[in-house]
This record gives sequence, C-alpha cells and structure tokens, in this order.
Amino acid sequence: MRERLFLLGRKPTTATSAPAEPPEPSIPDWQACDPREISQALGRALARPSGGWVVLDATRAIQKGPRKYVVNGRELVAWWCKKPGHEGTRVGPDHCPHMGAELSKGSVDREGRIVCPWHGWALSGETPKGTFRPLVTFDDGVLSWVRVPELVSHGEALTDRPYLPERPRRFLDATIRVEARCEPRDVIANRLDPWHGAHFHPHSFANLRIVDRGLDHITARVVYRIASGVGMEVDARFDSPEPRTIVMTIVAGEGIGSIVETHATPISDGRTAIIEATLATSERGSVISWLPAAGRLLRPLVEARAKKLWLDDAEYCERTYSLRREKAGRQDP
Ligand code: FES
Ligand SMILES: [Fe+2]
Repeated sequence: MRERLFLLGRKPTTATSAPAEPPEPSIPDWQACDPREISQALGRALARPSGGWVVLDATRAIQKGPRKYVVNGRELVAWWCKKPGHEGTRVGPDHCPHMGAELSKGSVDREGRIVCPWHGWALSGETPKGTFRPLVTFDDGVLSWVRVPELVSHGEALTDRPYLPERPRRFLDATIRVEARCEPRDVIANRLDPWHGAHFHPHSFANLRIVDRGLDHITARVVYRIASGVGMEVDARFDSPEPRTIVMTIVAGEGIGSIVETHATPISDGRTAIIEATLATSERGSVISWLPAAGRLLRPLVEARAKKLWLDDAEYCERTYSLRREKAGRQDP
C-alpha cells in the first residue's frame, strides 16, 4: 500500500531516462526479493578485479593526524604528508623498525615523515627502512586507498590505481566509517537487496519499487523522507565496479548524478570496516554554485543520516554473516 506523501523537487518521470510510471508490484516484496538472485548478483560482483585496492578512510580523516588501521589482519599507520610537492597519504606497518613502537602514536614532522614516539626515528613512507615497507596508496580526492597485495584474487594482477566509480564533477562530500562483525561480501549483498529499504528503514525511505533490473545493476524508485509526511522521489541505480564497492547513483529525479559509494574493507576474520562517501550534486546551476560553501553546514547532517542507516544495516550484515557461519559449521563439522 503506497503511503501518501508530499513530494518536493523534480519527479523521476520528468527525466528522459526514467521509465513511465511503473505499475504497482503484483507480488509482495518478500516474494520479489529472491535470495538466489541476490547470491548470483553477489557472485558477479565478487568476480570483478580489484587490483588489490581497498579504501582506508576519508582523506580528510587521515589529514587530521597519524591514525591506526587494521586491514586484513595487518596493523597499519596512515598519515598525511603536506610537504610541498610531495603531498599525499602515506601508509606503512604500525611497527617501528627499531624496537617496534606503534608509529600511530607518534607525530608528523615538517618534512612529512612519521616520527616514532619512543626514540624519534623519522620515516618518510616513500622508501623502505629495515622492516618498514611502505604500502602503495592512492588519494582519489575524497577517499584514501591502499594496495594490499594479498587481497588480489588468484591470478589477478595488481594495478596502479583502484577501479573508481564515475563521480559528479562538482559535489558536496560527506564520509562515514563504521565497523561491523561480518565480511565485505555481506555489505555488498545488503546493497543488492533494495527491497528491504522501506521496510527496514521506515524512518528514511517509503514507497520503494524496482523499476529496472539487469545482470550488473538494479534500479529502485523510492521516496527519500525529508520530514514528517514530506519526501523526494528518485530513481537510484545500484552497481558494483569492483568486489568490495557498491555504488548507488541517482539516475532520475532531483540530484541526478549524485552517488553514494559504499566500500567494505576487511579488518580481520569476521570484522569489516564500512566506509561510505556521499557525493551530492545537482543539475541546477544555482545549487551547484553553493555546494562547496554548504559543505561545512550540511556535511554533519548527511553523515548523521548515513550513520543512522548503517546502525540498521550493520545489524542486517551481522545477521547474514552469522547465519552463513552457522550453515558452514553444520556442513563442515
Ligand atoms: S622504537 Fe622507534 S625509534 Fe626506537
Ligand atoms: Fe539498508
């Protein structure tokens, strides 16, 4: 039963790419959402190459100081080098080559080197020093990626840069990082099930219908709630450019070209970091001009909304992970 809401902004049906008003679904969502089809779509996403790259965090977060991360069981330190001509994210083992101090508890000097808190060894992060082997990094302007060679699938080559989704030219960006007890595949599978949107997040979504499906994408028409009884209707397409990323793109309605990139990075067995970047844009010139200026004001609101959704979705992912483990335990006692 469709909820009556006051809709703001451009309707998806006014965009040429949008289909005509879709008919009411003939079957309920719990029947339309076929776990075998989600599993097949997940299989296709997981088979894509990654080049060995994973997202570490928002570059903005790394710029605030040295930080510790665990990726695939490896303790890493990440910091920002602001030496002119050498600016960028640096990542290496969080283990000083002298006596093993945690470099993430150190500081960054004027030369952009990480300085060990115990005896002051300064490491550039550009060349190896003893056991300290820096990792290859990539800053895409919003997120910092790190290349972890053991994360490539069998036979797959490492690449010079990650497989990046297409982004809008000008945008307002907001990024969150949360953790969940699951594997990256649970995060991707969660997004390949748009049917749960209005049922599981009634505070944020309403009137969701699937309007287009293909082998590598699924598009939902959904009302995004703005306030009580008020929303904005958009067509949101989900696809996966690489095995640990799923992207939602607004393809019709207000904010065409805006994307939400959800990246899942393995921390350790059964633990995953979810780094989600929202890149909001608009086709309206007047809105575009104030997007960068509005960042400081709007960013915390967008991040709070994304975190609220991830409170629900982390529970969903943890449930699918524990059910899979239980099933595997029964099959392999
Ligand atoms: S442990 Fe780092 S300099 Fe000694
Ligand atoms: Fe969700």
